[in-house]
Amino acid sequence: MVASEAAPFAKTGGLADVLLALPRALVRLGHSVDVILPRYRGVPQGDRAGVVTVSDEGAARETRIDSVTSHGVRTLFVDHPAYFDRDQLYGPDGTDYPDNAARFAFLCRAALAWAHQGTPSYDLIHAHDWQAGLIPVLHRGPVVFTIHNLAYQGLFGAEWLSRIGLGRELLGMDALEFWGRISLLKGGIVFSRLVTTVSPRYAEEIQTEEFGCGFDGILRSRGADLVGILNGIDYDEWNPATDPYVGAPYDAAHLDGKRVAKRQLLDVLGLPSGERDLDRPLVGMVSRLVDQKGFDLMARSTDDLLRIDAGYVLLGSGDRRHEEEWRSLAAAHPGRIAVRIGFNEALAHQIEAGADLFLMPSRFEPCGLNQMYSLRYGTVPVVRAVGGLFDTVQDVDLPTGTGTGFTFHPYTPAALVETLRQAIRTYHDRDAWRRIQAAGMGLDLSWETSARKYVEVYERATI
Ligand code: ADP
Ligand code: GLC
Repeated sequence: MVASEAAPFAKTGGLADVLLALPRALVRLGHSVDVILPRYRGVPQGDRAGVVTVSDEGAARETRIDSVTSHGVRTLFVDHPAYFDRDQLYGPDGTDYPDNAARFAFLCRAALAWAHQGTPSYDLIHAHDWQAGLIPVLHRGPVVFTIHNLAYQGLFGAEWLSRIGLGRELLGMDALEFWGRISLLKGGIVFSRLVTTVSPRYAEEIQTEEFGCGFDGILRSRGADLVGILNGIDYDEWNPATDPYVGAPYDAAHLDGKRVAKRQLLDVLGLPSGERDLDRPLVGMVSRLVDQKGFDLMARSTDDLLRIDAGYVLLGSGDRRHEEEWRSLAAAHPGRIAVRIGFNEALAHQIEAGADLFLMPSRFEPCGLNQMYSLRYGTVPVVRAVGGLFDTVQDVDLPTGTGTGFTFHPYTPAALVETLRQAIRTYHDRDAWRRIQAAGMGLDLSWETSARKYVEVYERATI
């Protein structure tokens, strides 16, 4: 597998979680998997695995490949400090480094140089997102390409084509060209044997103009080769019964621990944690602070959200604008809203465990992992019914007592606020709430089922 992120080495979002858990799940099914990524700053050196020669801006660069093996998965690192030994993975403050085309072309060329050495001999390469989009362009063997997010398209000026060593013939509309520029994502979509994305619903959505980001035509033309496979979650990392970050372990049959986790979370955040505070519903969010995740919608809804009797905790980072909005909300409502800007694995787990509800009003959501973590932690999700959120959260129907969360569709403050209100009314009905929690906690969200579907895709791609 070739990707730009894999936990625990490099992570900005769900891609990294998938690149940790899917290879392990495949190994458990009896397959061998190597993952190759850049050796970013702070990634351990590991053991020397070999040296490859990579062509870059006309020069041949001897490049060390190091490796670390864990849970049967070998992760290989492309060691090229000029490109990867930097503060950020992609660029400062949500911007891009100007040479990202060259950086990730280098990753692809190094990965292919490694694969073409012949030992081990790989049956197939699975490339993820635009950063690995050149893999199927440059490789003649079978490639499966996964779109984790169509909004990130790897767009660069056409002059980059020659700078990354590609011929002009690739500037065609049937190749990398996208409105006068080049798109490395398009390379992945057009040249791979099969294309997957991370939920069945998103696979349908991206073939429509509304969600297609300009790629819907290309994706429709590859419709027969496009498969939606829902992500799973890593049951070792995300388990309320064994979570090392959470004070009191709990499960569906012993939910008392969840109240302890709530107190722990309130204390960690400096919010009041008396018995009455523990009874008040607490809404959690862990997210990149970008419009995709519904932060513009929330900004338009804050007055109404504040009229609901609930506390809010937010952990995230991203657009300055949203960071500032939430910082000033927390300053204006201390004791009720807590905001932490930054990336914090421990706090992410503590929010999943300690909050009562988890809010994800995404504009679009290829899969989304946090709503699945929430389901497992008995933290009832309130989500917009799009993409993977649609596929994983079943709307509560009180009369029949079914459902695992609360969903809405129109991207409007009214729909968001009314749905959250409804969720919080239900929260105060203890029996109904326990039933909803138990239904979510009982779901099978493990990677095993999804990994088997990937194996089917790999087999289809190699015949
Ligand atoms: P996306 O990949 O679009 O950001 P996902 O829901 O698929 O969304 O995955 C997000 C992942 O990143 C989850 O594992 C989530 O816990 C984690 N995450 C996001 N922001 C933070 C943060 N500020 N601190 C810790 N973890 C975060
Ligand atoms: C992307 C998507 C997210 C998905 C993740 C892992 O970051 O935004 O919805 O869960 O990739 O596939």
